[in-house]
Amino acid sequence: MPANIVVGSQWGDEGKGKIIDILASRAEVVVRSQGGNNAGHTVVNNGEVYKLHLIPSGILYPDTLCLIGAGVVLDPKDFISELDSLETRGISTKNLKIDPRAQIVMPWHIQLDGLSEKFRGNSDIGTTKRGIGPAYMDKYERCGIRMYDLCHPDVLAEKIKATGNLKNKIITAVYGGEAYDLDAVTAEYIEYGKRLASYMDDVSVLTYEADKAGKTIMFEGAQATLLDIDFGTYPYVTSSHPLSAGVCVGTGVGPRMITNIIGVAKAYTTRVGKGPFPTELDDEIGDKIRNVGGEFGTTTGRPRRTGWFDAVIVRHSVRVNGLDGLAINKLDTLCGLGTLKICVGYKMPDGSITKNFPPTLEELSGCEPIYEEAEGFTEDITGCRTFEELPASCQKYIKRLEELCECKIAMIGVGPDRSQIIER
Ligand code: GDP
Ligand code: IMO
Ligand code: MG
Repeated sequence: MPANIVVGSQWGDEGKGKIIDILASRAEVVVRSQGGNNAGHTVVNNGEVYKLHLIPSGILYPDTLCLIGAGVVLDPKDFISELDSLETRGISTKNLKIDPRAQIVMPWHIQLDGLSEKFRGNSDIGTTKRGIGPAYMDKYERCGIRMYDLCHPDVLAEKIKATGNLKNKIITAVYGGEAYDLDAVTAEYIEYGKRLASYMDDVSVLTYEADKAGKTIMFEGAQATLLDIDFGTYPYVTSSHPLSAGVCVGTGVGPRMITNIIGVAKAYTTRVGKGPFPTELDDEIGDKIRNVGGEFGTTTGRPRRTGWFDAVIVRHSVRVNGLDGLAINKLDTLCGLGTLKICVGYKMPDGSITKNFPPTLEELSGCEPIYEEAEGFTEDITGCRTFEELPASCQKYIKRLEELCECKIAMIGVGPDRSQIIER
C-alpha cells in the first residue's frame, strides 16, 4: 500500500516515463504489465536523457525493484542491448525481475509484422514493426514461447521445432519471405536465455508480497487508452490492454490492490502511426507544435501527428480507466501559439452532438470536432513550480480541461526534466 497505476490517456507518448520517474522516487516497486519494446519512455534527469523501451522507468533509482509481468512480450535481443546500454551508463539492473510467463518475441514475429504491414498496403496500421501483434497472436493461439522456455534449452529447442516449421511455411509460402535456420535460431536464443536466467522470478508473487509488506508500488502503463485492443481506435491499435484493468491481468494481482489511478495526457494531442485523429492539425500550428514539442517517435523516430486537446478522448479515458487524477504534460509547448482550441464534443453525421467517444471507426469517421477557444500565453512557464506562478490564462486552460474531462488535474508538466512539474 499504496499501489498506483499510471496509464496513457491519449494515443501514447504523453510523458508517462517522466511521471513514473517522478513518482518512482516515492515507490519501492515499479511494474510493467503489458506491451513490449514498441514503447519508448523518456526520462530526463539534469540533462541526462534515458530512453527506455521495456525496462521500467524506476530503474534509475538503485534500490527500486523493477518488475516485468506475465502480460509483457519481451524481445530478448533488444532487451539485452537495453540492459547493456544502462549498465554502460552506470545504472545497475540487479533489481530487475521478469515473470517466467512473459511471452518471448521471436525473429519470425518481427518479420511477420513487417510482411503483414506490407501486405495491407495503404491500409497498413503503421506498427512499430517490433513483432508485437504476431507475438500476442501466438500467445492467444497458445503456441507462444515464454520466458521460462527461453531459459531452459531443452524446452526451448522443442518449442522452436514445434512452432518454427509452421512459421517458416507461412513466411515463405504465403508472403514469399525468408525461412529461418531453426538450429541457428535455437543456438542464438539459448545464449539469450543464459544471459537472462538470473532475472527470472514470479512477478505475481513478488508484487503480492511487496504489497503485503506495505511497500509502495507503481504500475507503469505503456501505450495508451486509444491504443487499447478493445477500447481504442480498432484496428489502428496495439495488441494488448494498456488500460488500468490490464495491469491486474498482466501482473497477476487482484483489482483490490489498486489504490490510485493516474492518467497522463499532453496539453494537446499527438498520435504516431495511422488511424483517425479528429483534432489533427495539418497546418503551420501543427508543425509548430511538432517542432517546439520535439514530437518525433522515441522508438521509431517517426514524426508524430499533432492536434488540439480533445476532451472527448480524455473523458473516455477517465471512464474506461476509472481515473482518480490526471497529469497534463507539455503545457510549455503551447507557449506563443496564439488562441488555443479545445475540442469539447463531436458533431455526428445526423447532426446530433456527442461527448462520448464513438465505439467504431465507421461512426468516428463521420464526426466533426466542436471547438471552444481559450486564451493563449506568451510567458516562459518552464520555471514555474506552483499553480499560482502560472499565467492566469494557463490556470484557466487547466481548470477548463479539468471541467471538460471531469477529472482533477493533479500534475502539470512544464518541461521534460524530472524537476519541471507542478503538483497540486
Ligand atoms: P511516454 O512514451 O509516454 O513515456 O512519452 P515519450 O517519452 O515517448 O514522449 C514524451 C516526450 O515529451 C519526451 O521527449 C519527454 O522528454 C517530453 N516531455 C515530457 N513531459 C514534458 C513536458 O512537460 N514538457 C516538455 N517540453 N517535454 C516533456
Ligand atoms: P508509448 O508507451 C505511441 C502505436 C504504433 C501503431 C500502433 C500499433 O511510448 O506511449 P504496434 O507496434 O504496437 O503493433 O503498433 O500502436 N504504438 C504507439 N504509439 N506510443 C507508444 O508507446 C506506442 N506503442 C505502439 O505507432 O500506431
Ligand atoms: Mg513513448
